[in-house]
Amino acid sequence: MSRKAVATLALLAAQYAAAAPPPPGDPARGAAIYDRCAACHALAYNRTGPKHCGLFGRRAGSAPDFEYSPAMAKAKFKWNAETLDRFLENPTRTVPGTTMGYAGIPDPRERADLIAWLRVATADPAECRR
Ligand code: HEC
Repeated sequence: MSRKAVATLALLAAQYAAAAPPPPGDPARGAAIYDRCAACHALAYNRTGPKHCGLFGRRAGSAPDFEYSPAMAKAKFKWNAETLDRFLENPTRTVPGTTMGYAGIPDPRERADLIAWLRVATADPAECRR
């Protein structure tokens, strides 16, 4: 193979790596990371923060009977892996004015693990029937 062909292949591989989605998270590791959230959140009921059951597909700021900040209440997006990833990286930058007093999770791997766990746990009938 010519030098040029090798260089082209290397470039393509680098571009592919940059564009590839992050590897799927590990829900077992995510369960342990949720301990950081459990100071304020529960799956099945509102505490300092809103309940997380039913999170995926729910509009931001719309859990029944929870008093949100005006910023979260008027947010127009829905929760999915992408919006959660952005919010959890830096809550106050993503939703300026949010009252979620948490600095965020800077490590993308940890966010992926947590989101993988949330996807399962927030739809778990045993936890979320109430
Ligand atoms: C210090 C308390 C606290 C901690 C710790 C905390 N949160 Fe929150 N969270 C809140 C509060 C309060 C709100 C409501 C924010 C608002 O109304 O602006 C909230 C809102 C949210 C929302 C929006 C839910 C909705 O119904 O729109 C998500 C998602 C969320 N938190 C996830 C997490 C996750 C995941 C963690 C752990 C990494 C976490 N939070 C840690 C207090 C906390």
